[in-house]
Amino acid sequence: MCGIVGYVGKDNAKSVLVESLKRLEYRGYDSAGVALLTDEGIRTFKKVGKIRDFQVELNKINLYSNIGIAHTRWATHGKPVINNAHPHLSCDGKVALVHNGIIENYSSLKEELLSKGHNFVSDTDTEVIVHLIEEELKSENSFFSAFLKALSRLKGSFAISVITVLEPDKVFCARKDSPLVVGLGDGENFVASDVPAFLPYTNRVVFLEDGEVAVLSKDEVSFYDFSGVPLSKEVMTVPWSISQAEKGGYKHFMLKEIYEQPKAVADAIRGNSGWFEEGAPLDFNFEQLEGIHIVACGTSYHAGLIAKFYIESFSRVPVNVDYASEFRYRDPVISDKTLIVGITQSGETADTLAALRLGKERGATTLAICNVIGSTATREADGTIYTYAGPEISVASTKAFTTQLTSLFLFALWLGKVRGALKQEEFESLYGELLELPSKLESFLNTERKEGTVKELALNFYKAKDVLYLGRHVNYPIALEGALKLKEISYIHAEGYPSGEMKHGPIALIDERMPVIFLATKGRVYEKVVSNMEEVKARKGKVISVLNPSCKEANNLTDYPIYVPEVNEFLSPILNVVPLQLFAYYIADFLGYEVDQPRNLAKSVTVE
Ligand code: F6R
Repeated sequence: MCGIVGYVGKDNAKSVLVESLKRLEYRGYDSAGVALLTDEGIRTFKKVGKIRDFQVELNKINLYSNIGIAHTRWATHGKPVINNAHPHLSCDGKVALVHNGIIENYSSLKEELLSKGHNFVSDTDTEVIVHLIEEELKSENSFFSAFLKALSRLKGSFAISVITVLEPDKVFCARKDSPLVVGLGDGENFVASDVPAFLPYTNRVVFLEDGEVAVLSKDEVSFYDFSGVPLSKEVMTVPWSISQAEKGGYKHFMLKEIYEQPKAVADAIRGNSGWFEEGAPLDFNFEQLEGIHIVACGTSYHAGLIAKFYIESFSRVPVNVDYASEFRYRDPVISDKTLIVGITQSGETADTLAALRLGKERGATTLAICNVIGSTATREADGTIYTYAGPEISVASTKAFTTQLTSLFLFALWLGKVRGALKQEEFESLYGELLELPSKLESFLNTERKEGTVKELALNFYKAKDVLYLGRHVNYPIALEGALKLKEISYIHAEGYPSGEMKHGPIALIDERMPVIFLATKGRVYEKVVSNMEEVKARKGKVISVLNPSCKEANNLTDYPIYVPEVNEFLSPILNVVPLQLFAYYIADFLGYEVDQPRNLAKSVTVE
């Protein structure tokens, strides 16, 4: 996730900005850049790689300025190379801009600006914004109004900071769906995407809300809405240490990442909706596609199991899902009409890379579903669908999983459309329901934040020795994922099963000490799951259920209900997994374990 910093004040902006960027390193980045306003105009400096190396280079440059902006980039559009690093400049070099987020309409804006003679030097969506401001300046009578005019043309998410020689003592900022916070100092002011950036200088902060603008000068900060109407904003004092602030006040990265899911899912939707207008996510004859092999490991494998339901139901293309570590030893049937889809958050998992390579060797086309731009999988595969989760720091995967599912759902919808298997009304209804998913996730998480249902449940069960997770259809893989999360971070034995399979063996385990977690939300298998709940109840098992408030039959059989909003059954896994992530998180925390770094596990497994 990119990081923004802006400074105007009494100190050497170069040092303040680089030190502040270092405090945003935890967000992950692949390149960094700084723009400083000097008597000779704007000077920019950029580097791919580590900030400490960048700092060494900058220290050698003798340059003093009191105002500037800086950025750490985590690539989304365009590779991690110098030209794509921010800040970006207008053609005349009078405006410099840094941006976090995704500009959805950047292609059409870029076309328009190119036709008006603007010269682009990067592959980023960001660069359109600075050219748009430059274009608006031709007809507007102030920089501020040109800035507002440009904002009104942007679709998507953005946190922006801008400096300009036309207003040499101001930093202009705006926020929509991407965080931005102002730090109020004494004779100096700051803006950043996160509080730790400026915490050594001030803990007096103003959080910008969506649709708000801030204009910073050395001695004051003014706030406006996007139409330029002044706003008065509340100043808050943040009582956090730097390490608490990095986690946004959450105790662990895992909890922060769980709570980031509404935004991450919204970003995955934004980032991957372009195919419906712009065409295929990779160069392949999809009409001739005969079959898909999905290869992945761990949590990504569970996303693959759900993707099978999506792709087969929406596009009628047959799908096999394999553990990547097994795929190459089973001599799979592959042809040039086969697509191999490797799902990998990191893009570096050795088994998944090997499976993709095998597919390629045998003449298939390969597609990576990946979160990390420039990773090996994205370089080697014929095409990539990015998941836009932002960096995931906790070893146990949460938001990477829900954004994989979101991206795969979109891919399946797209495939269904191009193959003519999905009617326009079905497409519109499914897509419409997907668009509502981020707010439903938000609503569940807000209720949990207030009521702590899952936390209390974890307090009841953290001493359990075994936990059984049961689900059917698209929620069977969620049972597997819930069990994996619990095993990984709390070291409690857990198993996931399709609930219809229970009577063929695992039912022998059920007694009054066995917690059984059911995924019992509305869908085609709801009644079947209710029957399976009866079987557990009859054997005195303790029933915990993830269910909708309208699931009366399931509720009657449940000892500990966790209510989630009702969504289309195909989307229910993306919502239902969230309470299971929280359950695992709180149990591990109650047991006093290192939640973010569980024993024996690594964030990317680069060995076979
Ligand atoms: C579980 C987890 C692992 C990974 C697996 C694959 O929380 O993080 O199971 O999902 O190691 O990693 P990627 O997706 O990077 O290939």
